[in-house]
Amino acid sequence: MDIIHSVAALRERLQREPNNVFVPTMGNLHRGHIELINIAKPRAACTVVSIFVNRLQFGPKEDFDRYPRTFEADCAKLRDAGVDVVFAPDEREIYPEPQTFVVEPSDLQHVLDGAVRPGHFRGVATVVLKLFNMVSPHSAIFGKKDYQQCLVLTNMARQLSLPIEIILAETVRATDGLALSSRNAYLAVDERKEAPRLYQLLSKARDAIAAGSRGYQAIELDVMAELAHHGWKPDHIAVRRQSDLKEPQGGDDKLVVLAAARLGKTRLIDNVEVTL
Ligand code: PAF
Repeated sequence: MDIIHSVAALRERLQREPNNVFVPTMGNLHRGHIELINIAKPRAACTVVSIFVNRLQFGPKEDFDRYPRTFEADCAKLRDAGVDVVFAPDEREIYPEPQTFVVEPSDLQHVLDGAVRPGHFRGVATVVLKLFNMVSPHSAIFGKKDYQQCLVLTNMARQLSLPIEIILAETVRATDGLALSSRNAYLAVDERKEAPRLYQLLSKARDAIAAGSRGYQAIELDVMAELAHHGWKPDHIAVRRQSDLKEPQGGDDKLVVLAAARLGKTRLIDNVEVTL
């Protein structure tokens, strides 16, 4: 496994291996990332993983500084997973000058997570486009836990005619249902015990919709109330269309229930799809 820090060295290495598939990450790798790598590996001769904590996608009051950085442990996991190239640039390598050209992800960036985290999806889309231009993969894999991010990046690839297939992978969960996330590391012991409630309530909402309930607003309010009752501060619980995250209309049959809620100081997100 080659660990590469500069764009020049990366390009030189990948000239020998143009058939590559890419998994962008911010490190602090868990089973969810390894699953993305397992999906990636059979698709190309060379699997490239990037580790870069992207300041551009964090708000000024967010956790950029305390975001867990575990480079050595990450590399050990990537080696075990059979990754070929790790790209681990520093900030100057990715942003040698102020990033004045950015990717504005349509109106998707102003709803749900975008409404609470202004500029977040612009930061994600911009760094992912830059990383795509550095790695030149034919495919890239993202996890559906970040549902809105998946949609932003799929739309970006389509609308900007990128020659890259975006592949979306199912969320990996702990045995108690909690979606795996680097931010789970912030949870105190009692919070970790409480955290699976988010997925339990989303599953209950999904089951109600699948069973024929169409009172989406009442379902959203029920989940919010239940979370608040157990000490959570919900940002949103929303039943939306899978295709564009707009509110469902009469005939829509592919829906997703999205949640973002704070437990103590930790903001957790999760979602479940439901097809009617
Ligand atoms: O999902 C993430 O870890 C990040 O948003 C990504 C896609 C690596 C961009 O920084």
